[in-house]
Parts: sequence; C-alpha cells; structure tokens
Amino acid sequence: MNTTPAPDTLTITRPDDWHLHVRDGAALQTVVPHTAAQFARAIIMPNLRPPVTTAAQASAYRERIRAAVPAGLSFEPLMTLYLTDLLAPQEIERARDAGVVAVKLYPAGATTNSDAGVTDLRKTYKTLEAMQRAGLLLLMHGEVTSADIDLFDREAVFIERHLIPLRRDFPELKMVLEHITTREAVQYVGSADAYLGATITAHHLLYNRNAIFSGGIRPHYYCLPVLKREAHRQALVNAATSGSSKYFLGTDSAPHPAHLKEHASGCAGCYTAHAAIEMYAEVFDHAGALDKLQGFASFHGADFYRLPRNRDTITLRRESWTPPSSFALGEAELKPLRAGEVLPWRLLS
Ligand code: NCD
Ligand code: ZN
Ligand code: ZN
Repeated sequence: MNTTPAPDTLTITRPDDWHLHVRDGAALQTVVPHTAAQFARAIIMPNLRPPVTTAAQASAYRERIRAAVPAGLSFEPLMTLYLTDLLAPQEIERARDAGVVAVKLYPAGATTNSDAGVTDLRKTYKTLEAMQRAGLLLLMHGEVTSADIDLFDREAVFIERHLIPLRRDFPELKMVLEHITTREAVQYVGSADAYLGATITAHHLLYNRNAIFSGGIRPHYYCLPVLKREAHRQALVNAATSGSSKYFLGTDSAPHPAHLKEHASGCAGCYTAHAAIEMYAEVFDHAGALDKLQGFASFHGADFYRLPRNRDTITLRRESWTPPSSFALGEAELKPLRAGEVLPWRLLS
C-alpha cells in the first residue's frame, strides 16, 4: 500500500477533452470559455440541429467556436462529422483535408439530437472504408435502441451486436467507445487491441444510479448512457486510474437549458465543463491515484489520436470552493452538475 501522503498541489501537462458538446449560437459564449480555461483541445460533437455532416459545415462551426475563445487563451476545437446512412465516402476526403479528425456514430434515436443517426450500419460500410483509408477515427455512442432491451443493458448489448462485428470488418479503423459506463465495456476495451480506446466522463466516475433518485427525481444527474450500479462505477474508476493508455478523458459535458431538464421528459446530458478537471482530480485523489491523472487527462488521448502532447501545464490545488450554481445559456439558465456544492480541488488560473 502507498503510504506517501497525497500532495496538496498537482501540476500536470495541460489536458484535452476528447468528448465535448458546445452547441451553437449564444450558448458558445458561456460554454467555450469554460472549456478553454482548462483544456488545450477538445473533440467537438456534431449533434447540432441540423447535424454537422459536411466538411464545409465543420469548418464554419470551428470558426464560430474559435470566435468564442476569450482573448489570451489558446484553445483548438477538433472537429467531427455526424455519421448518417447518407454520408458519402467522397465527403471523408474533403473532411480530412479540412482538418476533421473523426466521425461520430449515433444509432438513430439513442440520445439527444440523434434522429438523423444510423439506422443500419451496413449502409455506412463504404464510408467506414473511406475513413479507414483516410485515417479518420470512428467515435461511438455505444447503445442499442431497441425497445425490448432494458435501458441499463444497452451498452453491453451494443458491444455484442455491433462493436464486435464492426471491429472484425474494420480491423484497422481506430474506434473510440465514448462515455463508457459498464464493467462489460471495461472488460471488452481492456482485452481489445490498440485500435480501440474509450473515454470516461467525470460524472460516471463520481456517481452511481442512486444519484438520479435520491430524495426525489434529480434530472441534473440524467444523461445517456444512464448512470449504472455502484459495481460498474468502481470498474470505471479502476480502468481510469489503472494507467492503461486505452482510457482517456472525455467529459461529455452537455449543456441544456435548465427548464428542459426540469421537465416532464427532461433531456439527457450533464454539464461539467465549468469544473471538469477538478472533478476528475477528486476521483483520482479518492482512489489514491493522483499520479495517474496526467496520463489519463493529458497523454493517452493525444497519443491515440496521434496528435502531439501539449507543452504547457496546469496546476490544481487542494482547496474547497463552490462554483456558481447557474450560468446564463443564451436567454435560458444552465445548471451545472453539483450546482452550489463544494468541490475539494481547484484549478489555479
Ligand atoms: C448528449 C447531448 O446532450 O448532446 N447527452 C448525453 O446525455 N450524454 C448526447 C450524448 O453524448 O449522448
Ligand atoms: Zn453519447
Ligand atoms: Zn456526448
């Protein structure tokens, strides 16, 4: 057992966020500065309405995001396209030339803004071949959508029904199973070859499904894939803190107006960008693994995407503070995860 006391400050290479929603329009003014204050780069999810499906749209979206980065901060949005049954293989080359790094698979109907998603993976095979040739990654929201599959089993069934066949058919296509939530996902990713990686969110490391129901229904803990039982959370913590290069930081920070989360059919998504690295530090500290945070947050993702590691650093201090309990989101209100609660680690600016 490690008996060295945990440090009170921690300096690590500046991290990146490998799974992020920033939305568009006025929302960018709130959420992009939060991410840019912590991370050097982020993989920007394409599930806008309408979705980002062309290289030209991705380039235009990148410029709108860049325009929302506060002066003095350097932040690079890494763009993705949204895979549909109709995404043409020719668009993949244009996308690569425009600097797009990945394509996102949403099974149709699986999550927020996924109506345009894939109905049958076979329809996308020519496009996946083009991605394998061009070196674009395939990022997956890994859940099946059939009504006969229990909500809590959708990730495990996706692996059996879709991921295993996909990896057999495209052995040299790099894939990321995004926001993993189960022991089954950890087992599968852990035993796979170096073409498969996985991101893990702060909220899936911090909470189990009791959080959604403690003392009443708590819509701000509702996201997809939904939080799972405690044994799954522990498997995720073990994976993230193991030092394995297959796992990397992806917040899946997903802003929604508070009135649409506190609603009869509240939307899925937790907002964590305002204090993301602090929440991860809390998890790693609690697991006695602060020394593994830098690999998970700053190295493994860059290496997997074959991008250079960042050169500057950030410093975290063990210091209680309370982030604001809400932010403006255009005309609406944005309530972050753990609104108004004390956090034990603080990022020094
Ligand atoms: C995300 C969103 O709001 O865009 N929601 C979520 O619950 N995670 C979509 C997603 O990543 O599945
Ligand atoms: Zn998702
Ligand atoms: Zn997401």
